Amino acid sequence: MSHTVTIEPIGEQIEVEDGQTILQAALRSGVWLPFACGHGTCGTCKVQVVDGDVDLGEASSFALMDSEREEGKVLACCATLESDVTIEADIDVDEDFEGYPVEDYQATVTQIVDLSPTIKGVHLKLDRRMAFQAGQYINIDLPDVEGSRAFSLANPPSRADEVELHIRLVEGGAATSYIHQQLKEGDRLNLSGPYGQFFVRSSQPGDLIFIAGGSGLSSPQSMILDLLAQDDDRQIVLFQGARNLEELYNRELFEGLARDHENFTYVPALSQAEEDVSWQGFKGYVHDAAKAHFDERFSGRKAYLCGPPPMIDAALTALMRGRLFERDIFMEKFLTAA
Ligand code: FES
Repeated sequence: MSHTVTIEPIGEQIEVEDGQTILQAALRSGVWLPFACGHGTCGTCKVQVVDGDVDLGEASSFALMDSEREEGKVLACCATLESDVTIEADIDVDEDFEGYPVEDYQATVTQIVDLSPTIKGVHLKLDRRMAFQAGQYINIDLPDVEGSRAFSLANPPSRADEVELHIRLVEGGAATSYIHQQLKEGDRLNLSGPYGQFFVRSSQPGDLIFIAGGSGLSSPQSMILDLLAQDDDRQIVLFQGARNLEELYNRELFEGLARDHENFTYVPALSQAEEDVSWQGFKGYVHDAAKAHFDERFSGRKAYLCGPPPMIDAALTALMRGRLFERDIFMEKFLTAA
């Protein structure tokens, strides 16, 4: 038994299975609705019901207030349909979004490597290919860990039957502890994807700046590998921030890409460089490296930021002071998978 939801203003009609939420049905049909927590607590996925009957599900009273309920607002991540329904959603359809539908996949762990003392590289082989845009992420289920966890894909879309993840150990975090301490080669995992709106806006002109911190390198790595494989001729600069040399991973990969592609420049920055007396590169925070490289003037470029919130905030301030507008800056705050 299913019902139909019509999503305005785009006029898209989607089948919603019994028990499926509006959000699940939309993502699985390749229609992106804004969301964050996915379980009724943040309010990001609020939509207006204009026609039909909906079960509100587990919407929290903070995320959806009584007055909003009376106005017909619902949370798409919790709401299921009791009839055919029409909703109005705040959808900003981006012309560069390819809209690959979210699907379920099974995968086998093929390799686990230590990228740094705190970050593991986890490689999976998918049972079938997954179409995605560079920069997007997947949700993984782990044994004995409640709920799924989001991790960005570090492999380019051309390696569609693989998944490469960079996973930092979060102290006390059930999922990352499991991955660091128990996950082993040969294990089978269930995952879904692709998710997310962090991808290169190819139709927008301008040279590209990537600023990455910690395991936030994963999305920029996928995007840069993809751009260079497509012979994109824009100037691309990657600023990679780490505390010290041990934490600066995949440096050889990017140094090699910089040697092979004259339009790609790699600038690593160590914030605690005093620990590594041999370090000849930039000493300081990654946003300061970007400021120094561009003489504090960024106008005409597009910037993609991925890393922990303090890094994103500092980079954002630096870029905007250097004449980039908000519309020129795209970011993925660290997905807080613990
Ligand atoms: Fe957070 Fe729906 S996504 S409430």
